[in-house]
Amino acid sequence: KFKNPQLNGTPMTLIIKDTLQSPEILSPCSADLPVPLSDGYWKNRSVFVPLVCKSQQWTKQQAAICLNDTKLIICGDSTLMQMRQALRNNFKIADIVTQFVYPRTGNIVVRFKTGVLESDLLDRILRTNCSTANYVIVLNFAFHYGAFTNRAFLERIYHAKLAVQRLMLRCPTSKIIIKLAHPRDNIFIEQTIHSANWVFYDMNRMIRRVFGGIGVHFLDIWDMVSSSFQNNTVHMPNTVIVQEVHLMLSYICP
Ligand SMILES: *[C@@H]1O[C@H](CO)[C@@H](O)[C@H](O)[C@H]1NC(C)=O
Ligand SMILES: *[C@@H]1O[C@H](CO)[C@@H](O)[C@H](O)[C@H]1NC(C)=O
Ligand SMILES: *[C@@H]1O[C@H](CO)[C@@H](O)[C@H](O)[C@H]1NC(C)=O
Ligand SMILES: *[C@@H]1O[C@H](CO)[C@@H](O)[C@H](O)[C@H]1NC(C)=O
Repeated sequence: KFKNPQLNGTPMTLIIKDTLQSPEILSPCSADLPVPLSDGYWKNRSVFVPLVCKSQQWTKQQAAICLNDTKLIICGDSTLMQMRQALRNNFKIADIVTQFVYPRTGNIVVRFKTGVLESDLLDRILRTNCSTANYVIVLNFAFHYGAFTNRAFLERIYHAKLAVQRLMLRCPTSKIIIKLAHPRDNIFIEQTIHSANWVFYDMNRMIRRVFGGIGVHFLDIWDMVSSSFQNNTVHMPNTVIVQEVHLMLSYICP
């Protein structure tokens, strides 16, 4: 069955009698946090309450203060470009450098338009650059790699990891955030081949394993997307993207 199956009797209404873990005791958003049983829950249709770390809903002014003196670079696929759009529209943050990386393989013509990968981008950030500004670099490796073999994917992310480690040596104040994949629709049977959700789930595990322990921040939105009130499409609606940005800001300014 290629569609995400729905369990009989769901969605269920639960009455939770014991109190949930209170946000006060969550640790600040940082690198290598343990993965909780649940990443959080939607308080209502517009606000997600993460249980991974202590986050907040940011006002425009707070976001501006958070990103002051920061060079924000976003490098990845169209789902990251959605975050840039939300930063611009919802938070009025305009000063963002973006690198759109979207290789395509399979029956679509291979397209590597910019010819720039993470290592090219990160190696250009010199000691002199990061002595005057804090760099925050947001990366992702997700929906375009569903048809890669495990080995090809691991090679792909391993080179990025080495570039991250070189950057961290040159620029110890820089911060790397990796946005992980989320489950998506599989409307046509072919999509289960190039975009199986199990493959994306496994990619997240590979990314955590390869980049773990070196100080990278993982922006894990799997549960946020799958428990949202929306269908799980590759490009989620803005309400969900905005909540991803709130969590990202909580990692940038814990
Ligand atoms: C959702 O909850 C937040 C925080 O309590 C509140 O500010 C917002 O107005 C609520 N939104 C809706 C649509 O109910
Ligand atoms: C950003 O920092 C500069 C200089 O440190 C300051 O003048 C400016 O008011 C700050 N802007 C915000 C939004 O905090
Ligand atoms: C690094 O600094 C140089 C010289 O100021 C500048 O030309 C270049 O664009 C900077 N690079 C990045 C990645 O910010
Ligand atoms: C989800 O997809 C179904 C089937 O395509 C559609 O009927 C429904 O309106 C969608 N729901 C939302 C919230 O977009």
